[in-house]
Amino acid sequence: MNNFLKISDIGNLKDTVKEAIDLKDNPTKFIKLGKNKTIALLFFNASLRTRLSTQKAAINLGMSVVVMNFTNDSWQLEFEDGVVMNKDKSEHIKEAAKVIAQYCDIVAVRAFASLKNKEKDKAEMVINGFKKYVGIPIINMESATAHPLQTLADAITIEENKTKHKPKVVLSWAPHPKALPHAVANSFVEMMHLQDADFVITHPEGYELDNKITKNSIIEYNQEKAFENADFVYVKNWSSFTNYGQVLKTDLDWMITADKMKFTNNAKFMHCLPVRRNVVVTDEVLDSENSIVIQQVNNRTYATQIVLKKILESL
Ligand code: CP
Repeated sequence: MNNFLKISDIGNLKDTVKEAIDLKDNPTKFIKLGKNKTIALLFFNASLRTRLSTQKAAINLGMSVVVMNFTNDSWQLEFEDGVVMNKDKSEHIKEAAKVIAQYCDIVAVRAFASLKNKEKDKAEMVINGFKKYVGIPIINMESATAHPLQTLADAITIEENKTKHKPKVVLSWAPHPKALPHAVANSFVEMMHLQDADFVITHPEGYELDNKITKNSIIEYNQEKAFENADFVYVKNWSSFTNYGQVLKTDLDWMITADKMKFTNNAKFMHCLPVRRNVVVTDEVLDSENSIVIQQVNNRTYATQIVLKKILESL
């Protein structure tokens, strides 16, 4: 594997998930694989989990890690071609990507959606700019439209917790005061399409995701009906895709509560974090024994480690 930009880049998801679970017994089993190799983590947006878990995964493989925060520490980059660079952008991606490649063997990039211009966000200018010019393997640490490292960790977590071959998994929208990107939801949908599961998406009308991603997924506008007999409830807010980047609904009637979880088959509660308590989900649900959010966080390390291992093996 050369690049990991979307979940399907991993190849066989089932085998990869099994390999990641096996790795948990001996996380430093492949510590020699990354000897004398360096990964650069480039952040255009904030992170807690992705930054730490990617560093930990690289360390477990014996790699060195360098981190750059582009919001504060670096020159501002220009990604458009043919621009007269007489404003705030000091360096073009054409040079910057090649510069970064002088100092590392793998590059990982986080660059969220602007939520202002749908076509520009769909074009993934930042991550595709790096892909075009960097000339070394690239990993997506959450781009405008995808968060495949998160969804690989989620696949591992579902596999560890499922009690039947074909569980019912519900992706539920929940309220949030700010406009959030579609990346986590998109990648979760794509991952679920690779799974043997009864998969249902539930959200208020107007919050339909990109139908090129949801394809023929079942969409249920009644949240309680969607929750019936669910084994997993995966919760995430996203802004409207149709009315791009807008928050259409601010009341809390889609918040995840213990009463709603009673409709499920004693479902596990999942969320990628960070999560706003008593807006997205009540304390009672998040603190319950059915909440597996910290297991998801733990699995971020092993998901990334498997991705790095596959890339290192191909160098
Ligand atoms: N879930 C996730 O990607 O968390 P961070 O934004 O903190 O990295």
